Formats: sequence, structure tokens, C-alpha cells
Amino acid sequence: MIPHNARSSVTRGAACPSILGLGHYLPVDTITNLDLASLVDTSDEWITSRTGIHSRHRAGVAEATSDLAIIASRRALADAQLDPGQIDLVILATATPDAPVPATASTVQHALRADRAGAMDLNAGCSGFLYGLHTAEAFIRSGSAEHVLLIGADTLTRVTDYKDRRTCVLFGDGAGACVIAAKGFMQVIYSSVGCDGSQADLICIPAGGSRLPSSVKTIEDRQHYLQLDGSRVFRQAVRRMVESAREALDACGLAASDIAWVIPHQANERILSAVAEKLEIPIPKVVIDVAETGNTSAASVPIALDRARASAHFEPGQLILLVAFGAGLTWACQILRYAPLAETNA
Ligand code: UT7
Repeated sequence: MIPHNARSSVTRGAACPSILGLGHYLPVDTITNLDLASLVDTSDEWITSRTGIHSRHRAGVAEATSDLAIIASRRALADAQLDPGQIDLVILATATPDAPVPATASTVQHALRADRAGAMDLNAGCSGFLYGLHTAEAFIRSGSAEHVLLIGADTLTRVTDYKDRRTCVLFGDGAGACVIAAKGFMQVIYSSVGCDGSQADLICIPAGGSRLPSSVKTIEDRQHYLQLDGSRVFRQAVRRMVESAREALDACGLAASDIAWVIPHQANERILSAVAEKLEIPIPKVVIDVAETGNTSAASVPIALDRARASAHFEPGQLILLVAFGAGLTWACQILRYAPLAETNA
């Protein structure tokens, strides 16, 4: 029996908090590799071979993170056949809020008319959605909430330096949302989160907070853009995602071959291939969705999950492993069991 602790939880039997509805939204505008090659010294060949990315979506000038989150949320609520008034808590995972104050979750709560719900933002970088699922699951399990609306939404193009070829090829905008409840079609049977703050400077936006408030100098020095030590982050991403997936399998008494689908954070196709190889999971089982979305940060896993579900890959009883890595440095892992409601109620 695995003990519950602050970092991880394993639930066996029927009483697993579950995903009851899913939805996502990608803005209409796109940025292609050719567009980027007209801005910086890069090429379609370099970007495709080093990242697997061909294009990414970009929020329109009038679209903020909340606008993306609201559309994804409405789709998730419709999928769950739930009225916004039945939501007890809105959790928005984002590193690109509409503004530092108030929490963007408040804007979403109001727009949806989720009048009974509390609302808060959560920032764990690209691991944010999985951190949110860890949190939502605990709220449901404790009985503090009946329905949690969890959103991963980011507009990283707003903090991307289009003069820096090392980063500008990577990021796109998007939102994914889900409703978590006591019963649904994807049961969370394992959840864990982790962090190594000693390496936080590998992915950061240096200015604009209390450490380095905005000034003419911080703008001139381009310190409001996302900075990334690409190759070190690459190595950490592979290591941490592999380790947390192995921990999850061990905790649940599972072998890698028991996992039907892996839905990882979509940062770079080469990272995903390396993770799959080390876990000895065949590539066809890994959902790779990065080509047309780029890295959408906290939105990437719910977008990939929703898109994979739409392409009707999942079969009842299959196990799905979610794993993510991002700024912080943070990582997180969940194992879900696909259990369509007819089967759950049987
Ligand atoms: O979501 C979590 C956050 N982010 C990530 O997970 C990103 C993780 N890192 C990566 O995806 C990869 O490290 C990158 C795609 C960012 C870079 O790929 P890489 O294979 O690690 O390349 P590199 O940084 O080692 O650079 C290799 C060369 C360098 O040239 P020199 O110094 O060898 O002459 C770079 O200057 O490639 C150059 N380079 C580029 N060339 C053309 C870097 N970016 C570009 C570019 N176009 N866009």
C-alpha cells in the first residue's frame, strides 16, 4: 500500500476524482516557420528538425489569456453538460495572466457567470495544468468542492522576444479546460508534483515583478521577455519527466507496457522521443501534438488530451499517463484510467 503524502497520491477503487468534461481553444492567427525566418536568422529546416514545430497559433491583438480560457471553459462545461452555476472553484493555470492583479481566474469566473465559485490563478509554468489537476483532485477528494473548473491557458507569444532566434521559434498560444468531479470519464488514479527551485533561472522573465520592477532600463534590456537556457532545460525536461513517470508506475505497481497512451507536455518533439525511448514506450503510444501548436505552456497537455480524445483513440479501461515539465523548475505526473460513464455506472 502506497502512503499518501504531500507530493503524491494513489487512489484505488471506484472513488477517484475524474475528468467530467474537456474542451480547448486555439486562436485563429498562426505563425509559420517561414514567418519566423523573415524575422530572425533561422530556417524551416532548422526549426522542424530541432523541434518538430511547423507553426503555432497566436492570440489576436484584442485577445488576452482570459479570452482563450473562457472559450475553452465553455466547451468543457458543454462537454460535461454542466451549468456554470454548479462550479465551486475555478483554477486557472497560467504564467501569462491578463495582468498581475487581479487573478485572471476572476475574469473567467465572472464571464462564465460561475457565481458560486471561488477563483484563483496557479503558476507552475508548463507543468501548471498538472499542478492544477493535483490541486483540483484534492479539493474533490476532501469534499471541499463538488465541481472544479480547471483551465490551462497561456499567451506566451506576448512575452516572446521575436529578436531572439533561440526562443521565438518555440512558443504558441492556446487554452485547454476540464471539469473535475467525483464521477467522470477519466479517473485520476495517481498524481504527483515536484520542483527544483535551485535551477529556477533556467526559464524566467527577469523583470516586471517585485525583484526587478518595470523601468525604462528593463524595457531597453528586453528583460520582460521569456529567457531560456535551451540545452540545459532540454536535459532537465527529459530527466525529470522520465523520473516522475517511473515513480508513478512504481507507485501503482504498473509496467510501462501497461500504459496505453502517454500525453506529455508538448515542448519539443525530440524531448518527447527521448522520454519515450528511456521509458521504453513505443512512439505510436505517445501523443505528439507539437507540430501545429508549438509549446503552449500550461495549455499543452489539456489541448493534446482533448485532441487525442476527439480522434477516438481511447478504449475503456486504458491507462493514460500525463507528464509535464516547466519553469520553476517544476514537473508533475498523473495516471488516468479511461472509464466512459456508461461503464463507470455499471
Ligand atoms: O516547456 C519547457 C520549456 N522549454 C523547453 O523545453 C525547451 C527545451 N529546449 C529545446 O527545445 C532546445 O534546446 C532548443 C530547440 C531551444 C534548441 O535546440 P538545441 O538542439 O538544444 O540547440 P542549441 O541551443 O544547442 O543550439 C545549437 C546551435 C547554436 O549555434 P552554434 O552556437 O552551435 O553555432 C545556436 O545558436 O543552433 C543555433 N540556433 C539556431 N539556429 C537556427 C539556436 N536557435 C536557432 C534557430 N535557428 N532558431
